[in-house]
Amino acid sequence: MTASTTTPPRTTDDDWWRSAVVYQVYVRSFADSDGDGVGDLQGIRERLPYLRDLGVDALWLTPFYTSPMIDGGYDVADYRDVDPMFGTLTDFDEMITDAHALGLRIIVDLVPNHTSSAHRWFTAALAAGPDSPERARYLFAEGRGEHGELPPNDWESIFGGPAWTRVADGQWYLHLFDPAQPDLNWRHPEVRAEFSDVLRFWLDRGVDGFRVDVAHGMIKAEGLPDVGFSTMTTGQRQVELLGKGRLPYFDQDEVHEIYRAWRPILDSYPGGRMAVAEAWAETPQRLARYIGPDELHQAFSFDFLDATWSADSFRKVIDTALAESAVVGAPTTWVLSNHDKQRHVTRYGDGAEGLRRARAASLLMLALPGCAYLYQGEELGLPEVLDLPDELRQDPAFLRTGESRDGCRVPIPWSGELAPYGFGPAGSDLSWLPAPATWRGLSVAAQTGVADSTLELYRAALRIRHEHPALASGAGGVTWLETEPGVLAFTRAAGAAVLTCVVNLSGAPVLIDGYGAPIAASEALTGQGSGHLLPVDAAAWFERR
Ligand code: GLC
Ligand code: MG
Repeated sequence: MTASTTTPPRTTDDDWWRSAVVYQVYVRSFADSDGDGVGDLQGIRERLPYLRDLGVDALWLTPFYTSPMIDGGYDVADYRDVDPMFGTLTDFDEMITDAHALGLRIIVDLVPNHTSSAHRWFTAALAAGPDSPERARYLFAEGRGEHGELPPNDWESIFGGPAWTRVADGQWYLHLFDPAQPDLNWRHPEVRAEFSDVLRFWLDRGVDGFRVDVAHGMIKAEGLPDVGFSTMTTGQRQVELLGKGRLPYFDQDEVHEIYRAWRPILDSYPGGRMAVAEAWAETPQRLARYIGPDELHQAFSFDFLDATWSADSFRKVIDTALAESAVVGAPTTWVLSNHDKQRHVTRYGDGAEGLRRARAASLLMLALPGCAYLYQGEELGLPEVLDLPDELRQDPAFLRTGESRDGCRVPIPWSGELAPYGFGPAGSDLSWLPAPATWRGLSVAAQTGVADSTLELYRAALRIRHEHPALASGAGGVTWLETEPGVLAFTRAAGAAVLTCVVNLSGAPVLIDGYGAPIAASEALTGQGSGHLLPVDAAAWFERR
């Protein structure tokens, strides 16, 4: 139906996702084509050549569907349409056609755990009243206490406060996130049928895959049992965003039935359509249950994102993630930053030290087997914006928990001397969040062609990752080399071609000798005898052929 199906991506390999580098586009902060201060689909379309030149394989687009935007679009009112803020379905078709022509695949976000409270199903449920078929699609329940004035159980919203809200007729409904995001009842056949249809709707439009939001959340334990503690009773939060733990509302075994039903739908389309789970599981073993030949293709390894800046911490999560994905025959899925987490420059210490470490961690990630997800702006070395004025913050969690994810969602600086640095069309100075003055030197234009810039480091690393036989397939494991304490060194090999990645987390420069010629480095290396000195908090790739 769309032209995109007739202009397939350059590579037709069905296994493309096993080694892909996927670039996460947080749509409202990427590029604004119409000057309203909000990023949009035509903005993405205009910037596709930039992404092709960066060297990524695919884009993951955060939700652009019809939404009241209470949770940045993760509150979907219509799963089959584009919000006017972001454009139209025609804009989507044009964008994906151009992306495919440039060899870029498109993954869209799917939000199945909850709808927006503005979704027609929820409006109908409120109107229809208790015990109606309309309410059965959500999780409505009677309250506790003499007059039902207490929530049905002690479950807590991830955004703070109780996970239940009472409606006018006295019933309560469940929302694991904001009250504007009512949870669906996934034991209801209509809910299942609806999402199978939504999958097909976007597959028919040519999408190459889905990122499944809160993939561990759709099934709740029968009887909705209490957790036993909460912020309100014991002061201990049940779970934080991307957190872990055994909870009656997360990671129930029955959720896997849903993915076993989705997989044949994905497999019925040509070209390797895939899905990646955003699942928060208690252990890497439980996370691995989401992936494999009869469920989803990938699940983000958030343990890698959570690793602290030490050789032991990284080595442990890398080994565990590789082992667990090998068991199920799936690729590992590395990620350092996303739209929910503080940017890794800032997590690693901010300022010059944080940037050095972030660059080194990125080289580490891009040398590992499997798939890697980049978050827009990390290729520019953007830090978290920590000093946004409170009144501009829009994260719904902010008012409830005091924590906000807005600092990693500030619009991308493209060019120019003044904020918002080319985010919008010429002459527009609107942006929904303000970029700091310090970002002038971090724009795409400011870094392009500058040899030691973070942007050129990413470009070089992505080019090598594609071309080097030891990295290109994404397959195989890593072979750890013996090193001094605090230094990580491993090889990837294909025949005689051997690539060694070394990361120095030791606190002192380290002499590297015998791994061959350096082909990428996060900081300048200095020659010493036959070897090279790798500075503190730096990573480098060496090759022998
Ligand atoms: C996921 C999204 C996050 C959103 C939440 C609720 O964790 O990444 O941004 O707030 O789900 O949909
Ligand atoms: Mg716009």
